[in-house]
Amino acid sequence: MDKLKIRGGKRLEGKIFISGAKNAALPLICASLLTDEPVILTNMPMLSDVSSMNKLLLQLGTTIEARDEIINNNACKNYTYSTPKLTGLIAPYDYVRKMRASYYVLGPLLAREGHVELSLPGGCAIGARPMDIHLSSLEQMGAKIEIKNGYVHADVNGRLKGTHLVFNIASVGATCNILMAATLAEGETIIENAAREPEIGDLANMLNSMGAKISGIGTSVLKVQGVEKLHGTTHKVITDRIEAGSYAVAAAITRGRIELINAQASTLQTPIKILRKMGVHVEEYENSIVVDAVDCTLTGQDIMTDYYPGFPTDLQAQFLTLMLTANGASMVTETIFENRFMHVPELLRMGANINVHGHASAIVRGVDKLYGAPVMATDLRASFALVLAGLIAEGETIVNRIYHLDRGYEKLEQKLQAVGADIERIKETEEE
Ligand code: UD1
Repeated sequence: MDKLKIRGGKRLEGKIFISGAKNAALPLICASLLTDEPVILTNMPMLSDVSSMNKLLLQLGTTIEARDEIINNNACKNYTYSTPKLTGLIAPYDYVRKMRASYYVLGPLLAREGHVELSLPGGCAIGARPMDIHLSSLEQMGAKIEIKNGYVHADVNGRLKGTHLVFNIASVGATCNILMAATLAEGETIIENAAREPEIGDLANMLNSMGAKISGIGTSVLKVQGVEKLHGTTHKVITDRIEAGSYAVAAAITRGRIELINAQASTLQTPIKILRKMGVHVEEYENSIVVDAVDCTLTGQDIMTDYYPGFPTDLQAQFLTLMLTANGASMVTETIFENRFMHVPELLRMGANINVHGHASAIVRGVDKLYGAPVMATDLRASFALVLAGLIAEGETIVNRIYHLDRGYEKLEQKLQAVGADIERIKETEEE
């Protein structure tokens, strides 16, 4: 397992290219299963989660062609997914265990082939994360669902039937899964209290370019008129707002200045508002954001995570870490997941002053200094928070278990090195 070695204290200045969004790419890859024609996805991030999803699709009978491409001076991938015939209908435990988003094959396979077997993902480091909304919605659309030996067995006779669904939680995963299933259903499906995250808009736009009939995109009521067949398309993945927000914090926490190339400010309005209230200068441009904290004194702010367009839970750990460098106290409240303060004990080992109350909130008080230490995180965004702490800590920080970071941050150490960070990857083989 690789590690990151960081020597803190460098002000970060320069440009960082923001990659295609992981949370858009994963459902888009699965949406290619809805057609027998090729689907070309451009601006794809090079991440281990994308490779894992590709491996799962290969098992289902998809052929995948990869090409390198340059978009806005940034090297990325372009993949062609072709599934003329599905040869497998099982998402095995080993895939789902490693990457929950494997469950995005559920909606497409059931809609296209009328049968799918999916290993139930179970809980994970940040919470229980059940799939009840995905499954009950498919049942309401006419599917027969059985849980046997840890697997969901879903079947439908003929086509799924459009119906009026009201989600009790605006779940991102359930919205994507049901949206994909509904494109090939008979009649109209209405999803009320649908999630409104930009990645869902990206999925809906691509599905429409494949011949789907989805309206209400970007709102909490999605209407889908089912069609009999979808065709191939070419689609450019939107940029990653969570990656952009993470590097915005890297600029702010080191009191540096970073231009986030390709970042879309419209998708980051709540985090930008918090940065400004703290005292960070943020300039918004059509295809970039400049975050400037040089000579800034920051003031703590309260944040509460919420569904989009509220404050993203995927930026909570990074902003909590930033609050350690601000004057005064900040209250950080997590409302989406029940166990998302796993980074706190590691930050405490670096000299942080944080009190967690139950599972839902934490009081963060500004400290003069953090001290480098060996640390490890249990999830992707928490791992980035530890990198941020390492960037300002006195001495050396070793971040262990960085396979989490490789799942969601493309070329992390190269991007940070390019803006002046003292960070390097230690390969397993170099350790002993
Ligand atoms: C997605 C994102 C993740 C982000 C999260 C919230 C991807 C691949 N992952 O995760 O990065 O942190 O949205 O923005 O896009 N829930 C249920 N029953 C269900 C489904 C969800 O109770 O059937 C609960 C979950 O346990 C959680 C809340 O709803 O407490 C939100 O989950 P959801 O929006 O589904 O998150 P994911 O799609 O798993």
